[in-house]
Amino acid sequence: MADSSGNPNASSRTPTGIPGLDKLLTGGLPKNRTILLSGGPGTGKTILSSQYLVNGILDYEETGVYVSLDENKQHVFEEMLDFGWDFQDLENNKKLIFLEASPIRYLPAEIKVGKLTVGRKEFSMATLIEMIKTSVREIGAKRIVVDPVTTLVFQYEGVAAQRNALVELMEALADTGATCLITTELRRPGFERSLDYEEYLAHGVILLQQLQVGKSLLRVIQVEKMRKTPLDNQPRPYRITDTGIEVFPRESVL
Ligand SMILES: Nc1ncnc2c1ncn2[C@@H]1O[C@H](COP(=O)(O)OP(=O)(O)OP(=O)(O)O)[C@@H](O)[C@H]1O
Ligand SMILES: [Mg+2]
Repeated sequence: MADSSGNPNASSRTPTGIPGLDKLLTGGLPKNRTILLSGGPGTGKTILSSQYLVNGILDYEETGVYVSLDENKQHVFEEMLDFGWDFQDLENNKKLIFLEASPIRYLPAEIKVGKLTVGRKEFSMATLIEMIKTSVREIGAKRIVVDPVTTLVFQYEGVAAQRNALVELMEALADTGATCLITTELRRPGFERSLDYEEYLAHGVILLQQLQVGKSLLRVIQVEKMRKTPLDNQPRPYRITDTGIEVFPRESVL
């Protein structure tokens, strides 16, 4: 069904509301799916994810859950306030739940749950999934961000175990019915990806990179894969300003 802007995909899309990005995504992220946002350090993964949730709340009346696995709540709240996004206020008004899940990394190797002893990995994944489900129910969240999944997945040794952990998380996210954005850290551009296989599990992949152009660095965003979407998979420039991320969907970089 087309919306007022003539977008034929409107009913199957969740608009990010990020200037220029929905154009690349033919209307937005595919609804009820999990999309991977991959990028190196400082490419704007946290800013983009936050902007996606805030726009959902303010412009589309969709509440959101933010799962932070690396950074603590206060830090993220302070940083996002720089862009005018008052996470504390949104949380007070039950529009947003911020889950600070970083402490699960510091759990002891074994944990006693009643009379049982459970391994840290099993405990942390199960706990996290439970926390997410409870939070989604509590505010009726339609958008979820997990930032970044890398930390969680690398607790597991070996590709098979890491893949299983990711499948478990992805299935739990799919069960919520929300449209989910999960971030992963891309170590160094041009080098082998740290978690190649994850791309096969996600419904789509968005890549953030910094390219060296002459002496300066250019930020580029690329929709690498998006099932059932006619793709503009060209890298397009984006910038980070005081108001967040802006994508230039018609400008080419090559
Ligand atoms: N007001 C601003 N104007 C321009 N650039 C900014 C502004 N605030 C932050 N940045 C840039 O945003 C980037 C940090 O964004 P963000 O924290 O979202 O990155 P990230 O990909 O999540 O990084 P990490 O891998 O460390 O978690 C930095 O490169 C910083 O220079
Ligand atoms: Mg970050």
